Amino acid sequence: MCPELPKPALRCVAIFASLLLIADSGAARAAGDIKAGREKALMCQACHGIDGMSKVPEAPNIAGQPEPYLAAQLQAFKSGARRNDAMSVVVQTLSEKDIDDLAAYFSAIEVKVIKLPGQ
Ligand code: HEC
Repeated sequence: MCPELPKPALRCVAIFASLLLIADSGAARAAGDIKAGREKALMCQACHGIDGMSKVPEAPNIAGQPEPYLAAQLQAFKSGARRNDAMSVVVQTLSEKDIDDLAAYFSAIEVKVIKLPGQ
C-alpha cells in the first residue's frame, strides 16, 4: 500500500489512518448538515418548535431523538408507509438531503430529563 515507507510499523499506521479516513467519509456522507437543518427547521417550528419541543397538542417532541429514527420517519411519511394529515403534506417538498439535514439538526438538540414522575 505504501511501499516507500521504511518501517513496517509506519506502514501499519498509514494503513490504519487511511481506513479511518474511509470510515469517516462514509459517516460524513450519511450524516446531515446540522446548520443547514436548522434553517430548514423553520418550516417545522409551528408544530414542533425550533427547539424540537411540541407546540401543538397533536405534534410530538422530536428534539434529541436518534438521527436514524427521525430520518426513517420522514422517509416513511414521504413514501406513504406512514400517514398523517400534516406530515404527509409537509414532507413532499423535502429532498433526501433535506431529510438528512433535518434529522441531524433535531437529533443534535440536547435534551435532559429533569424529573421523573411519581417520586
Ligand atoms: C402542521 C404541523 C406540522 C408541521 C409543520 C410539521 N409537523 Fe412533523 N408532525 C406533526 C404531527 C401532527 C405529527 C404526528 C404524526 C402522527 O401522529 O403520526 C408529526 C410527526 C413528526 C415526526 C415523527 C415523530 C415520531 O416520534 O415518530 C417527525 C420526525 C416530524 N414530524 C418531523 C417534522 C419535520 C422535520 C418538519 C418540518 C420539515 C415537520 N415535522 C413539520 C405535525 C407537523
